[in-house]
Amino acid sequence: MNPIAFTRQRLGRLRQSWRIRQQRRRNQAALEQMRATGQPYFAAELRALLGCDDPWLAAAAQEYAACPAAWEHLSGLRSAGRATDGMAKSLDVAEGFALWALVKHLRPRLVVELGVQYGISARLWKEALTAYVPGHSLILCDLEDHRRLIGDDEARFYREDAATLLPRLFSSEQVDILHNDAHPYDLIRWSVEEAITHQVPCLTFHDVGRGPRNPFRLESQHLTQAEKTRQRVNWTQYGHWERHVMAELFSPDLLHQDTAQARGWRVQIFDSLFGFGAALRQTDSSRRP
Ligand SMILES: C[S@@+](CC[C@H](N)C(=O)[O-])C[C@H]1O[C@@H](n2cnc3c(N)ncnc32)[C@H](O)[C@@H]1O
Repeated sequence: MNPIAFTRQRLGRLRQSWRIRQQRRRNQAALEQMRATGQPYFAAELRALLGCDDPWLAAAAQEYAACPAAWEHLSGLRSAGRATDGMAKSLDVAEGFALWALVKHLRPRLVVELGVQYGISARLWKEALTAYVPGHSLILCDLEDHRRLIGDDEARFYREDAATLLPRLFSSEQVDILHNDAHPYDLIRWSVEEAITHQVPCLTFHDVGRGPRNPFRLESQHLTQAEKTRQRVNWTQYGHWERHVMAELFSPDLLHQDTAQARGWRVQIFDSLFGFGAALRQTDSSRRP
């Protein structure tokens, strides 16, 4: 490598590690503010979705704040301009808490994540699972292997198309949470349909927020399904597809509102920087008033 290219590469690395440190500081400050206000992120939404009470939420918030490995690389709170300041765009610290609380409440034995990239959200899953679920498994799938934050000793990684992996998993394992962050329309739709058929009790999604800076585009609802499939990865023009799939398979209300209860599912969208969504299968006891 010539000296100019070498220097540029070194400077790029230094800049990135400085941005990663900044991101960690910002996230730490956001969590300190949460602690100071005594109001956990998304308290009302979490109470409605999980049926938990305030002391339970406060304890979960403390446990989350005490685990920097879970949130240090997440995107900055509601900071679109700085969303990718750390390693890459991911859940933000508030959405991260919603995920953490979900794991604390559901105690899933097996979580499967589609779309891993550097492993920012995989790290968060792993930390939450380690905190609450002894003997858990985490399965990760991506077309490429760019993992930096999670190793082979912590999670089973499959470098392959999720469309080929999932049928094998569903036939041999009981999946407790399926997390969709891989984005192609046909993959999301098919994986959610399969998960519903295979009795997966909880589905989670990233990039489902509705605000003007969010990657979801309401107007894309008017495309036919064939057209959506043809535009499966055309995010610049049509946005991300997760929320459309949620609306198609759970309730069309989700195009316009953040909660829905339909077809045996309770759905909540935690609308922060990019939007984290969770759908919980309602058991007979959880449906009782
Ligand atoms: C937004 S990134 C995931 C980010 C990660 N979940 C996080 O928050 O740290 C999306 C990833 O999905 C992967 N992907 C896209 N299509 C896929 C497919 N058919 N099967 C598996 N992974 C896929 C891409 O390679 C990319 O790394």
